[in-house]
Amino acid sequence: EEKTGLKDFLHINDFDKGTILKILDRAKEVKALLKSGERTYLPFKGKTMAMIFAKPSMRTRVSFETGFYLLGGHAIYLGPKDIEMGKREETRDVARVLSRYNDIIMARLFAHQDLLDLANYASVPVINGLTDYNHPCQIMADALTMIEHIGQIEGTKVVYVGDGNNIVHSWLLLAAVIPFHFVCVCPKGYEPDPKTVEIAQQAGVSKIEITHDPKEAVKGADVVYSDVWASMGQKDEAADRRKAFQGFQVDEELMKIAGPQAYFMHCLPAERGVEVTNGVIEATNSIVFPQAENRMHAQNAIMLHSLGL
Ligand code: CP
Ligand code: NVA
Repeated sequence: EEKTGLKDFLHINDFDKGTILKILDRAKEVKALLKSGERTYLPFKGKTMAMIFAKPSMRTRVSFETGFYLLGGHAIYLGPKDIEMGKREETRDVARVLSRYNDIIMARLFAHQDLLDLANYASVPVINGLTDYNHPCQIMADALTMIEHIGQIEGTKVVYVGDGNNIVHSWLLLAAVIPFHFVCVCPKGYEPDPKTVEIAQQAGVSKIEITHDPKEAVKGADVVYSDVWASMGQKDEAADRRKAFQGFQVDEELMKIAGPQAYFMHCLPAERGVEVTNGVIEATNSIVFPQAENRMHAQNAIMLHSLGL
């Protein structure tokens, strides 16, 4: 259906650089307002949001629900057992029914195609809360965190160490829009989707590298980023993956090679002692908790943009 004045938020590169930076500016502005204790800015007053979760979540659920409430709206949590989208009911029916009750839909799903179908049939904006393919709200929060700690994204070097997964795809799609140096260093066989690498490279905006030697890759990084080796839906591969990812743990030695300017980031949840050591998460240059907090602020700005507010 036509969504006049309304916009889905499905992939970062659906938007141009100016729009992404505008959303991030708005996030800073609304964050400052909320942090000041101000509770009279209620742009979502009288609005409701349906949140569909086919997978578990702490940050996404709590940050969306809290953020929408703090700005005046009401959010409804629909867990994996509630609507069973695609099983109890077809996606196209869920999309059209929820659009009749709610002003906006947030969804965390397995197959990315299901999200595209949901957005296609919904008459209200659909926000991507993670799929097997990507996680744009996370990388918007990460970008906001980099702006706060480093001053900018442009010109920085971000080195992602680990599995070429949904988080990497969103980093690549950000790199298609904003110029920085992005390196994904991963074991052979765990590279990100080649089509997405190509989109990022062909955009001609950023320097993109997919490499296999962590010690070489992290040198001079402004950000060393990690994520779990077995994502949601892959937990039965966890043991095999631990073997394949030997040498890809972010530890104190790797952070030392990166250099004193390097911040550590992780989308969380983290498996301490697996993809990252306790010491690295707890170090003073670790910004994983400001990063988690920024989920809420980035998403508030995304929802304002999606609703044309
Ligand atoms: N980073 C993130 O999306 O966390 P949750 O899975 O807890 O939502
Ligand atoms: N790659 C992880 C990210 C969790 C926020 C997963 O998909 O499980």
